Amino acid sequence: MRIDVLTLFPEMFAGVFGASILGKAREKGIVELTAVNFREYANNKHNTVDDYPYGGGGGMVLKPEPVFSAVEDLLGPGGEKTGAGALQGPEQLGIDPQGGDLEGGNGEGSGSEGGNALGGATAVPTEIARPQTAKPPRVILMCPQGEPFTQRKAEELAAEDRLIFICGHYEGYDERIREHLVTDELSIGDYVLTGGELPAMVIIDSVVRLLPGVLGNESSAAADSFSNGLLEYPHYTRPAVFRGWEVPEVLISGHHVRIDSWRREQSLLRTLSRRPELLETAEMTEKEREWIAQ
Ligand code: ADE
Repeated sequence: MRIDVLTLFPEMFAGVFGASILGKAREKGIVELTAVNFREYANNKHNTVDDYPYGGGGGMVLKPEPVFSAVEDLLGPGGEKTGAGALQGPEQLGIDPQGGDLEGGNGEGSGSEGGNALGGATAVPTEIARPQTAKPPRVILMCPQGEPFTQRKAEELAAEDRLIFICGHYEGYDERIREHLVTDELSIGDYVLTGGELPAMVIIDSVVRLLPGVLGNESSAAADSFSNGLLEYPHYTRPAVFRGWEVPEVLISGHHVRIDSWRREQSLLRTLSRRPELLETAEMTEKEREWIAQ
């Protein structure tokens, strides 16, 4: 999978893209992550990407030109959303915030070619050979008015070949970006953040961990909270008794059928007490529905 983020603050992504599971997924070649500073696509001499709203009122509005140009540049000549002949963004993330090469290279290019390798989109993009991808990219706008992001949406996005995230920091986006460029608008919750970068990181993290080969144990994503519509059951590890608090006997019984049914029961009870609305759409048997209704 390839993921590009259009942002005015590409440096914000260095830590997240370089560390932990996302960093490993990149090293393994499972995902390619780039952060592109779309200010580089501003078509005016002061590099402004925002302007006053038509009709007056407070706040600034993100202009359409830099965002359209950046996406079209990523998608290659003609702007066809096929991913064919896609351009590798000039900010291919190969460098960590300390200047070390995340790819384990020799440290060359730590921002020397046109400034911050994460943020300064000064290099001319280089065309790279890329196999024709089957699906058109999803162009995802981060905004509080978007569709609420869920585990279902993460699963849907994890099945794509290519995602492009647009992160804004303004009062609004020019509506033509919504109407003619984006395929999805996503919100991570009913609160307003200063920009779309943190929401994009949240979504990217939840999508990448679902890609085959990213988590060590393939079953660990399948057992997640929400993957079957329920919250996860409680976990315990050694010691069997800690400060007098004991691990439930069933878990040390070695009886796998009993363990599975205890876990299922706990998962249902936990969902009932914490998030009862999830039970309406969760995968449950008739018997379980009757039991939980008591
Ligand atoms: N931008 C600002 N707040 C946001 C939110 N809650 N979700 C997505 N994008 C945002």
